[in-house]
Amino acid sequence: MNELAGRKIVLGVTGGVAAYKAAELVRLLGKAGARVQVVLTDAGARFVTPVTFQALSGNTVWTDIWDPRMANNMAHIDLSRDADAVLVAPASADFIARVAHGLADDLLTTLCLARDCPLLVAPAMNRQMWEHPATQRNVRQIVDDGVTLFGPAAGDQACGEIGMGRMEEPETLLENLIAYFVPKTLAGRRVVLTAGPTFEAIDPVRGITNSSSGKMGYALARACAQAGAEVVLVSGPVALPAPVGVRRIDVRSALEMRAAVFDALPGADVFIGVAAVADYRPAQAAEHKIKKSGETLSLALTPNPDILTEVAARADAPFCVGFAAESRDLDAYAEGKRRNKRLPMLVGNLVGDGLGSDDNLVILYDDAGKHPLPRAPKSVLAGQIVDHLAGLLAARAIPS
Ligand code: CTP
Repeated sequence: MNELAGRKIVLGVTGGVAAYKAAELVRLLGKAGARVQVVLTDAGARFVTPVTFQALSGNTVWTDIWDPRMANNMAHIDLSRDADAVLVAPASADFIARVAHGLADDLLTTLCLARDCPLLVAPAMNRQMWEHPATQRNVRQIVDDGVTLFGPAAGDQACGEIGMGRMEEPETLLENLIAYFVPKTLAGRRVVLTAGPTFEAIDPVRGITNSSSGKMGYALARACAQAGAEVVLVSGPVALPAPVGVRRIDVRSALEMRAAVFDALPGADVFIGVAAVADYRPAQAAEHKIKKSGETLSLALTPNPDILTEVAARADAPFCVGFAAESRDLDAYAEGKRRNKRLPMLVGNLVGDGLGSDDNLVILYDDAGKHPLPRAPKSVLAGQIVDHLAGLLAARAIPS
């Protein structure tokens, strides 16, 4: 389950090359459980035919306000009546101009005027069209009127130019849309997280690391951002893209992670240690590649600092959340870690239940006891962990 499941989204597609990406967006929305109703403008239908959108959404695609198939000729009212949002992607400069002026001369603009749900707009146009004072004026106007903008992004454009005006990628639009519906339980909060493994160099080409995928930490960073927090993610080496709206700082070793965390900490309300930080590092990394000699090789290891314990011990410590992946006796070890590290909250799981996979089975521990969560994808668990954390944080603010 996510915030889009069961919601009805009217997807408006206007005339722009990026219309082909709207087809992928329909697929992603459907996968996320949304019901999608596509409305194409005449210009949009010149780029991608209604048949494509019909096949992908499983719903009749409407383009014409005079379409005789709508029994009461009220397509502009009926289509958005039970919608949770109208998302227009791509939104051309012309469409934005017409919305800014309240024009209603085709099905999509009429529907935008007649709706009583939010209007979300993903602009897509050539750099100069975007920068033109008329477009900028129109964009300001629709934002003043309560429209939410998704993008645009900067980068290569279909016209061969580089600049601002590209439509956000479908995956990003999906994230934006989910975030739009997530309750803003962490609004105004600043969250610092660690995620992924650390890599402790033995020599210039080798090192000690572990199999943490970073998926849980990244899912949690995304969930915090969707809940309205300002998020800094200090990440060990993983192959994951930074979640939308999250500032990511890449590090390799535990010492680098610690330095980056302490840099990011001033003003933080919450610190979440999700990273599988190596407890030890080679006492001395060899300057040059170690050559094999055929003899036994011993590696002297020295302990790494415990980042979470250090953060939680500060006089001005933020609300600290720890993670514990154990291979046995989860309750005893997890609760022991929470107490030793002086954490108000800890997320525990048994390894084998989640390491590297997309699903996980976790138990939350806090001063009130243990709270098992049902097995779920990490993205769903992340939302539940954020809800729990936001609840504890809010309760803290109330004097007892
Ligand atoms: N942690 C940390 N810095 C370390 C080690 C752990 O910040 N050097 C944090 C992890 O991010 C996690 C929590 O501490 O939130 C528990 O990590 P874990 O490796 O399970 O526990 P350890 O304290 O290292 O204990 P052990 O390895 O003996 O189980």
